[in-house]
Amino acid sequence: AGRALARSVRHYCREAPTKLRISEALSGAEPGTNVRVQGWVRSVRPQKTNLFLHVNDGSSLQPLQVVAASTLDDPSLTFGSAVDVTGVLKKSPHHKQPVELEADHIHVVGQCNPVDFPFKIKERHSLEYIRQFPHLRCRTNAFSSLLRIRSEATAAVHSFFKENGFVQIHTPIITSNDCEGAGELFQLEPSSPENDGNEHFFSVPAFLSVSGQLHLEVMSGAFSRVYTFGPTFRAENSQSRRHLAEFYMVEAEVSFTESLEDLTKVMEDMFRCVSEYVLAHCAEDVDLFHKHVTPGHRDTVDAMLKKRFPVITYSDAIDILNRSSEEFTFPTHWGCDLQTEHEKYLVKHCGNIPVFVTDYPYDLKPFYARDNQDSPQHTAAAVDLLVPGVGELCGGSLREERLELLRARLEEAGLEDTYSWYLDLRRFGSVPHGGFGLGFERYLQCILGVANIKDVVPFPRFSHSCLL
Ligand code: 4AD
Repeated sequence: AGRALARSVRHYCREAPTKLRISEALSGAEPGTNVRVQGWVRSVRPQKTNLFLHVNDGSSLQPLQVVAASTLDDPSLTFGSAVDVTGVLKKSPHHKQPVELEADHIHVVGQCNPVDFPFKIKERHSLEYIRQFPHLRCRTNAFSSLLRIRSEATAAVHSFFKENGFVQIHTPIITSNDCEGAGELFQLEPSSPENDGNEHFFSVPAFLSVSGQLHLEVMSGAFSRVYTFGPTFRAENSQSRRHLAEFYMVEAEVSFTESLEDLTKVMEDMFRCVSEYVLAHCAEDVDLFHKHVTPGHRDTVDAMLKKRFPVITYSDAIDILNRSSEEFTFPTHWGCDLQTEHEKYLVKHCGNIPVFVTDYPYDLKPFYARDNQDSPQHTAAAVDLLVPGVGELCGGSLREERLELLRARLEEAGLEDTYSWYLDLRRFGSVPHGGFGLGFERYLQCILGVANIKDVVPFPRFSHSCLL
């Protein structure tokens, strides 16, 4: 009986169809293989004797064509329904895909009522339209492409830092410091009734992190090169196309950095490396954006990657803006904050490629920025990277490593006690160092040409909106 069972198991294994992801079926699976694929129906075309389906499982933009005898047709086989198909891969007569699946069995796993389903077969819906359905928009081509690109770009960021000797640090999400001092903090308190006394849960006020920078600075004092890549929170009361209340930030901190050039080199290298990886590894998905969402954007991206990024000082930037004939909503003068309209103008002025702006007025920058003491106008060694379509993509600076200068600035702000631990970093083996943060959603907007930041994040959070 045991031998018979073993024989039948062997027989079953030989006969069982190979379960494949659709990307695997399309890239190199042998015609003649008996396979099983599972996914969602993207189109249905019943013809006289045959039924043609496109099935997609999210592994690639391209669906797999399934050909079945009309006898396998089923009224519940509609656009959006989930199916489990077995059959034999055949060489496809169409040049667009190498194989198609000749089905011998189609099982409808989950029905989809086409009348209520918000997306219609063969219709190209706008990003604004699909944004209304955060729980379903991943079923559209555009948004599933976006999420595959986002995933690959994430991997590319990690691989850039790994290849350049950085140690990844999981900086905390809950923190008691306001790194940027801009007052855009979400304060945390438990909702449970046992904790409704006067005591804070952590005994001190605690917030969602606006930046992992200060924790990275701690670690850069031991590892020299560190980075973090995680969620960041800002209570910005903004509905703008480039602000979210929850976004992902890539932050790096580099010890023994003596000039802003050392820093801008890392920023530029990372931008290039991640972009080249994404363009090479997500070509089909990126094309969808460059051809259908923002036609012509590929030329902008190619131009961005062709030349070194120019560097101008803040003072140069103000001169350029003052001399321009553009009518800005916010007038410019030395000492003013650059607004999005100014940033976009500067990018255009520099040839519509990314541009570094350095040496901002000291008073505009947070307490940690290094004082350019010998500057005629009082500036800090800070740098922003401005990019086409978006404006500010990265903010960074050399950090004030000199104990007395830092202490004086913290005293002036009444923060000396709060940041006594930060002053300790300057007392115990302080070194010149610097770092930056890149807004990951803004990066995706820039590379794909997406106008609204809400269209490059799986579940956007912004003021008056926290759906799902
Ligand atoms: O310029 P920011 O505020 O810099 C910092 O937080 C530094 N502590 C980073 C560092 O040096 N480690 O923010 C960095 C970037 C911005 O340039 C922008 O791209 C993005 O984070 N960003 C936002 N992205 C989406 N929504 C928001 N509300 C954002 N605020 C900043």
